[in-house]
Order: sequence, then structure tokens, then C-alpha cells
Amino acid sequence: MTFASTDATSDASATRTVGVELGERTYDVLIGPGLLAKAGALIAERLGKVKCAIVTDENVAHHHLAALERSLTAAGLAAQSVVLKPGEATKSFRELVPLCERLLEMGLERGDIVVPFGGGVIGDLAGFSAGILRRGVRFVQIPTSLLAQVDSSVGGKTGINTPQGKNLIGVFHQPSLVIADTDVLTTLPVREMRAGYAEVAKYGLLGDAGFFGWLEKNWRGVFANGGPPLAHAVETSVKAKAAIVARDETETGDRALLNLGHTFGHALEAWTGYSNRLLHGEGVAIGMAQAFRFSEERGLCAQGNAARVEHHLRQVGLPTRIQDIPGGKADAGELLALMGQDKKVRQGKLTFILVRGIGEAFIARDVPPEQVRDFLQREIAG
Ligand code: GLY
Repeated sequence: MTFASTDATSDASATRTVGVELGERTYDVLIGPGLLAKAGALIAERLGKVKCAIVTDENVAHHHLAALERSLTAAGLAAQSVVLKPGEATKSFRELVPLCERLLEMGLERGDIVVPFGGGVIGDLAGFSAGILRRGVRFVQIPTSLLAQVDSSVGGKTGINTPQGKNLIGVFHQPSLVIADTDVLTTLPVREMRAGYAEVAKYGLLGDAGFFGWLEKNWRGVFANGGPPLAHAVETSVKAKAAIVARDETETGDRALLNLGHTFGHALEAWTGYSNRLLHGEGVAIGMAQAFRFSEERGLCAQGNAARVEHHLRQVGLPTRIQDIPGGKADAGELLALMGQDKKVRQGKLTFILVRGIGEAFIARDVPPEQVRDFLQREIAG
């Protein structure tokens, strides 16, 4: 599976377009610098003179809301904004209810649009509100974090967290358009940029060894303030995701490959109480390194791949070991129990995404829990 195609050194100002082919719900993901200023025109040209309800958080509003509002108004689109508190706690019923009521008070009708403008939390919550408002209104994702640009804004997964776990309530609702302005990533804290990079590396590790090799050579360019390598990395990631979503929209098969590193990673996130000790992408980085180590231990993957993956992730500043998480010592039994909460659990059996090599992930159902417990014990002992 190879997704890397366009030239990473091509015109720095070019807009790249990736189609997510889903029949009558097909939509484009537009990627490149300077797109925020064009967002109004891009929306008006595709969706008409709609009313726009921007949903964002305080951080994004501080840096970019005025620019987006100007762009919408200049294109003749009526726009109002809802600004929420940043952070994972916002993805909750407590915030969803007043958000939906606010959207109704704004007079948002069936033909109008919600515009989630932020990272994964805003995209998931506001996308979900669009999915249930008046039994579904259209929405245009404008993702502002690397993680949201390469993963959560594409593919139509929306939802909220509950005390029982993350993303357990939600709907599949595809956006009508995604506008990923790579310039906005330059205001991201480096830790968040790295966390998003884990999802970029994921696409190479799960299906495109050539792209992983390209990242090994070019990762400094990806982090260097929004040049062509960043747009190329976002485009290649989105192409990879679009191809998988097009063949398995609702995750009955191949889409599960996108969860490489996530079963291990989600358990670690839950163990840290979804706190600042471990960002989602950091959990995914550790989880991917673990998936490679576990696959090597089980003889599924040639020796040396795990070390190569770990070397690259550490090189960009990502964690790869449980010991890298600050705070208390983990317990293998507790982590295994937390994995039991995963959405991929079927009849109590754990599903993992394992690997035969770099770029060769596969879905392993019915992995014996004892093997995972033994592995985790060794991981914790270091
Ligand atoms: N983030 C995984 C997926 O969209 O399926």
C-alpha cells in the first residue's frame, strides 16, 4: 500500500486536494497554507450562501477566530460563533446540551452549516452536534491541530466521552468539506505538534514503508514552520486515511488498521486519567512501539523493526515506553482491565493491530489476554 505520491518540494503556496470517495457523500479535504483567509469563498462556492455556526475553543479563538469570521463575512456568509473551554472535558454531555440549544437559538436550519474550528475535541463535539441537530445538518471541519488535520477531521467519526470511556457515544456523520490550513499549525505548542506527528508516522507504519522512510529523512522539515514537507506529510496522511475510509466507512473491517497503537495507548490514557501526563498522540506513540515489540516477541515480525520505529519516535521527541510517562508505576492487570473497555472488544476478546513489518499492519482478533499480561509485565519491569 503506497500513498505518497506528490512532490514534497512542489509550490509552497499550492492547495492540495484529497477526495474522500463515499458516493453521494463524497467530499474534499483541502490542504495548504493560507486557506483560512479563503475559507468563506471555498464554503460559498461549494455549499452556497449558508448561515455558519462556528464552534471553537478559547485558545483557537484567541489566535484565529477573527480571521475566520472576516473570511466568512467577506464571502457574504452570515456567521456566529460559540467559544468553549479548551480540553478533553469539553467533549461531554454537559457541553453538548447547551451547544445544541445555542445552535437552535441561532436559528440554524437544515440547509445551514456547523463549522467545528479547532482540534479533535472541538471537531468531535461540534461534529456530533451537527449529526443530531434537526436529525443532521451539514458541517465543514476546519481543523487547527496536526492531529485533527491528519486524523480526526477526516472520516466522519464524531462523539463525546462519558465516565465509562472515550468516544462511546457518537455517530458517523461525514463533513461536507475539510479545510486544513497548514499555517495555523505554526501557533501550536511543540508538544502538541509532536503528538499529532505520532498519527502521521502511524500511516507509514501501518501501510506505507516508503512514507515512513521519507519521514525518517524529512521529519525536521515537517516541524519547520509550515513549509512544503509539512503540507506533503498532511496530504499523504489524509490520502491514506481517505483510502481506508472509502473502503470501510463504519469500521467493519480495514478501518480498524487506523487503530495501530491505540489499544495499548487508550489503556495508558485511561490509566493516567486522560490528564496532561499523557496526550493522546503520546499514548499512540508508546502504543505503536509496543505493537512492534509485541509482534517481534511473538515472532510475527522480523527483529530490528521495533528498534527502528522506537529510534525514530524518540528522535522527534515522542515517548515510546511506559516508563516515559511521569508519575506512578503502572500495573499490568490494571492496564489489561482498561483494554477490556475498548470499543474493539467483541464478546470479551481483545483485538490488536499487529505488524509483520514496517508498513504491514494487520488485524489480530482473539489475542490471548495472558500473552498481553506477560508482555505488559515485562514492559513495566523495563
Ligand atoms: N481515528 C481512527 C478512525 O478515524 O477510524
